[in-house]
Amino acid sequence: MNATPDHVLNTLNSMSDYVVMFKKAFPNEASPVIFDNFAKAIEAFEATLITPAAPFDQYLEGDTTALNDQQKAGLKLFMQTGCSSCHNGINVGGQDYFPFGVIERPGATLLPASDKGRYAVTKAASDEYVFRAAPLRNVALRTPYFHSGQVWSLKQAVGVMGETQLGIELSDKEKNDIVAFLR
Ligand code: HEC
Repeated sequence: MNATPDHVLNTLNSMSDYVVMFKKAFPNEASPVIFDNFAKAIEAFEATLITPAAPFDQYLEGDTTALNDQQKAGLKLFMQTGCSSCHNGINVGGQDYFPFGVIERPGATLLPASDKGRYAVTKAASDEYVFRAAPLRNVALRTPYFHSGQVWSLKQAVGVMGETQLGIELSDKEKNDIVAFLR
């Protein structure tokens, strides 16, 4: 999310509660606030982010009352406009890489010069600004959005996706409906 490893470690070290918690979590290490332990902590946290029987799962299992009308309208838009062609599977995303800007390139703030996505791994020009289509489970709980970390509103992120990935201008109501579904 637009933070360098050094920046992450400086931030953690500047917050004494974190230093204490890292000592507790990694008791056999003299200086536990290191990048690898930070990664382990996030991994352990993410493993708790399971959403068994979320309303969406209940709906898929046949409980048609699990989503309200606005959420159902959002789901319909999510499928009909094409969001689900990239964000699909059990985590509603995370299955594949796609260019950010299939139809229209987002502005430079959303395509940071320091993070060109898959290009860093493959060095192929066609992989510039190719990113994993983010899994969208719990997405309402994890601002900021995109690899640039510049977008703090889910509604705005949905609008950006419509323009850049699908070439459509979603109306205010459509954005609200999709956000209701994502929540
Ligand atoms: C062509 C593939 C594609 C389509 C179509 C698409 N997305 Fe995305 N989406 C992506 C990629 C790739 C990213 C990651 C971009 C990044 O991290 O910079 C992303 C990121 C997002 C994010 C930010 C998630 C996060 O955790 O930062 C949201 C929200 C989102 N998409 C919603 C939607 C919605 C809603 C639609 C339909 C209107 C849509 N997407 C259509 C590929 C797509």
